[in-house]
Amino acid sequence: MNTRHVIELSPSGKTFEAGDELLLDAMLASGLPVPFSCRRGACGSCKVVVAQGQYRAKRLAPGTPSPSYPLAANEMLLCQSHACADMRLEIPGWSLDAPALVVEATVLSKRALSPDIIELVVMPDMPLAARAGQYLKFRLVDGDSRCFSIANLPADGDGRLIFQIRRVSGGLFSETLLGDLDVGDLLHVEGPFGACTWQDDDVAPVVLFATGTGYAGIKPILLTALKRDVEVTFYWGGAQAADFYDRAFLDQSVIDCPRFHWHPVLASEGRVQDVALSHGHRWEEAQVYACGNGGMINQARAGCLEAGLPAHRFVAEAFVPSGPSSVDTLLNSLDETWEKVGPRYSLDGMLAAREKSVRALASIASQLKVGMTTEAALEMAARQLQTMGASHTWHPTYIRFGDDTVRPPREGIDPSRTLRPSDIVVVDLGPVWDGYEGDYGDTFVFGEAPLHLDCHKVLHEVFDETREAWLRGMTGVELYDFAEERAVAKGWRLSRNLAGHRIADFPHALFGNKELADLDITPSEMVWVLEIQLCHPVLPIGGFFEDILMR
Ligand SMILES: Cc1cc2nc3c(=O)[nH]c(=O)nc-3n(C[C@H](O)[C@H](O)[C@H](O)COP(=O)(O)OP(=O)(O)OC[C@H]3O[C@@H](n4cnc5c(N)ncnc54)[C@H](O)[C@@H]3O)c2cc1C
Ligand code: FES
Repeated sequence: MNTRHVIELSPSGKTFEAGDELLLDAMLASGLPVPFSCRRGACGSCKVVVAQGQYRAKRLAPGTPSPSYPLAANEMLLCQSHACADMRLEIPGWSLDAPALVVEATVLSKRALSPDIIELVVMPDMPLAARAGQYLKFRLVDGDSRCFSIANLPADGDGRLIFQIRRVSGGLFSETLLGDLDVGDLLHVEGPFGACTWQDDDVAPVVLFATGTGYAGIKPILLTALKRDVEVTFYWGGAQAADFYDRAFLDQSVIDCPRFHWHPVLASEGRVQDVALSHGHRWEEAQVYACGNGGMINQARAGCLEAGLPAHRFVAEAFVPSGPSSVDTLLNSLDETWEKVGPRYSLDGMLAAREKSVRALASIASQLKVGMTTEAALEMAARQLQTMGASHTWHPTYIRFGDDTVRPPREGIDPSRTLRPSDIVVVDLGPVWDGYEGDYGDTFVFGEAPLHLDCHKVLHEVFDETREAWLRGMTGVELYDFAEERAVAKGWRLSRNLAGHRIADFPHALFGNKELADLDITPSEMVWVLEIQLCHPVLPIGGFFEDILMR
């Protein structure tokens, strides 16, 4: 008899029933949102904490590898377990009430901060889990929207959101709609989005740049930094004295926090980036955030990198004109069978997840050291992803040294293999950021072995040429035939066991696991990942690069 057990999910109190089927299948059948991906005990997406009740492990077919995801004594994988009794489970980092993409917000107040800057305060109809530095999109009519940064830390107060909005000449929102808004009016806001967020590095000295209302994006990061015992320096550029509209708060903070300094920089007197670079910060160790004018951001980035700042420690948001939203056009063009996306799918979310994944990869690569074991490297990567705020890894993190670079992901590797002075390393990440899947992988060469360097060069050439072939309209099947031909022409072999896959708001596994190499239509942008795995024809030397297909 198939006995049904009641599974309660804490703290929501929601329940579902499970019998002989896997707990993952039972929860999916109940219609509750479930975090999952690989279904084979490798990624840890479906990890739960068992607060009460008994379960048994899935019986594995002979020869099937055991689940590899490491678990604490009170943890269990839904995809590998059956209930034996009523149970109470907790799912860390997951809300059963999946946050809506668009919420209503009521105007609480509006006041002038300067002759052309307005502070707008709104209360969303449900609390928004915004990270310091993120922004919302204000929905206008006909799919149009405008981005504005959340200038406070909503979780530190009653959930209200503060915006600082500059009047743009001819601006539909800032010059017309904003003026007509009254207390009690309703707005529709989408998000939060953005990768220019607090990086949670407790010790690094923080350098902040803003021009104009770029301060709105910087202020929550400043508030977060001021709570830590770190050195914080802020450079704020403005056209006139009135542009430093939060001067009183900043001056008071200098008194309250001895390790904080700020410098107003009038445009007539210089540029923020030049002033900062003349001040001799410890750039090799710093963490830099910049918001506002795109020109300032580009120049600040170039100057800071030249002064020794590692590239992944420069985090920025350019306040470009928002313009009409292109997401509706994209959604309408997706294939109904192979390119389904979830309810929270958005371009801003996907782009931010990509940016954070790229940054995480750079950070992890910078911490790889000769002599380190694969096991130690994987532990370091897990810590880094957690520190940066990844809620899950929708596929396991892969780090492979030397001979292991030709092994397919599911094949076991030697955890005690060490990184040699002359070596080749593959790092492949699949983190979930704010409900959006990231996926980014690359190959790194230690030393100057000619074959390692050639592998790295050819890998990127094959990827770039295949991406260009996609832009010309090739199908998924054609892309991988093309990539194979290009790899062989350059003296390498394309390994087809990494053949591209879907990506979306987490979990895309709900929509199937079609491989890009089997797709007989031209893949749409922002929903597929192109993977290129090269192997030397005879030697155990491999390289891997992947990125989301985007224009
Ligand atoms: C992620 C992000 C966060 C942002 N946060 C803020 C914020 O907190 N506060 C804030 O004041 N602004 C912010 N911006 C900029 C703001 O979204 C744009 O200025 C927006 O277009 C203004 O909307 P509008 O309807 O008033 O003007 P629009 O109708 O969009 O524009 C009117 C005209 O002005 C031009 N224009 C608009 N904005 C700019 C600009 N920034 N630079 C140069 N030309 C422009 C347009 O090209 C157009 O010709 C942010 C932008 C981004 C991308
Ligand atoms: S570990 Fe269960 S879905 Fe990956």
